[in-house]
Parts: sequence; structure tokens; C-alpha cells
Amino acid sequence: MKRIVILISGRGSNMEAIHRRCAEEGWPAQVVAVIANRPQAGGLAWAAERGIATRLVDHRAHASREAFDDALAAAIDEHQPHLVVLAGFMRVLGAAFVRHYEGRLLNIHPSLLPAFPGLHTHRRTLEVGCKAAGATVHFVTPELDHGPIVMQSVVPVLPGDDEHTLSARVLATEHIIYPLSVRWFVEGKLRIEDGRVRQTDGASQVLI
Ligand code: GAR
Repeated sequence: MKRIVILISGRGSNMEAIHRRCAEEGWPAQVVAVIANRPQAGGLAWAAERGIATRLVDHRAHASREAFDDALAAAIDEHQPHLVVLAGFMRVLGAAFVRHYEGRLLNIHPSLLPAFPGLHTHRRTLEVGCKAAGATVHFVTPELDHGPIVMQSVVPVLPGDDEHTLSARVLATEHIIYPLSVRWFVEGKLRIEDGRVRQTDGASQVLI
């Protein structure tokens, strides 16, 4: 049984999607803990109600980025996870932290990386007039919103879209591609070769 720790900063809808599909589909895995860096993270209560161990590691309670990273890693490692999943976790993690979890740290970002890393993804997508948008699941490397790509989803940008409508369209696809990517990981179906991720069954790694 693979142990998954999920890190969140907010509502945690991707966390919910992963937890639900794990249970429904009987993955050889379990979400053993959910950790947030903000006390307001709504997803913490959701997880606690389902009997999942929860923890707050408040970044504001730590004097430096390194001190926060160390406290976070200590909280994660209590659960000896095979996989750490960033699900709307909005803190930049240092290189030492990332290296500690190399090959077992996944993130989802609401753009077609390498386009639009960082914040305000949907606003920037609309500002430049992109005709397509999407989301990317990737292994985390020290460079922000980079790293070997596991899966991407593509959606149209429609006339009249605003940040709200576009983010909702992208989020609906996140709830498909993130659980699927995590499932592949825990089933041992992802290989990183020359910085690229291969799904060993040959399954499609794009949702259009
Ligand atoms: C998601 O859209 C996720 O892609 C994004 O935050 C949202 C979290 O929603 N993540 C990032 O922007 C990371 N750079 P959720 O809390 O409902 O899962």
C-alpha cells in the first residue's frame, strides 16, 4: 500500500478528487495525511471529517523559508510517504526540500507549461489572447513550475471568457488528470527517461 501525503493551501478540490478516486477505484494506495500551510485552508476540515490525519504548518510561524521547509519536511516524513502531492500548494519550496523528495513529488499547475509559470495564470492566458488553455501535472524540480510532465489537459478559450469561467473549465480537467497521474504513480506506471515521463502502458498523457 503506497502512502500519499497531500499538501494544500486552500479549498483542496484536487485533494478531494484524488482521495475520492483512490477509494472508488481501489488503488493500491491511501491518502495518509493532508498538510496545509494556511489556517484558512478549507480542505483541512474536509480531510479531518474523513478521518485523514491533518496538520497545519503555518509558514508565517517560521522565521525563514528554510525553517519552514524543514518543519514541513519533518511533518511529511512522520508519515513516510511514497508520494507527496502538491494540490494547490501556493508556497515556493527550496531546492533542498525538492531534492529530498526527488522522483516522488508531484504538482499540478493550471496552464500548459512551460507557458505561464507562477501566479495569475488564467488572467495572463486571457491577456495575450491564447486560444487554448489547460493544466499540467509534473514532477517537481527546484525550478518553479518546471519538471518532467506527466499529463496535460487542453481546453478552448472561448469568446467572452473571464478568469472565473476559464479557471472553472480548466479545474474540471484537473480533477481528471491529477487523480489519473497519481494512480499511474502508485501503480508504478511512470518512468522518467531523459527528463521525459513515459506511461508504461502507453496510455494517452493528454486530455483534450
Ligand atoms: C488549482 O487550479 C491548481 O492548479 C492551482 O491552484 C488551484 C487549487 O485548487 N495550483 C497552482 O496554481 C500552483 N502553482 P484546489 O485547492 O481546489 O485544488
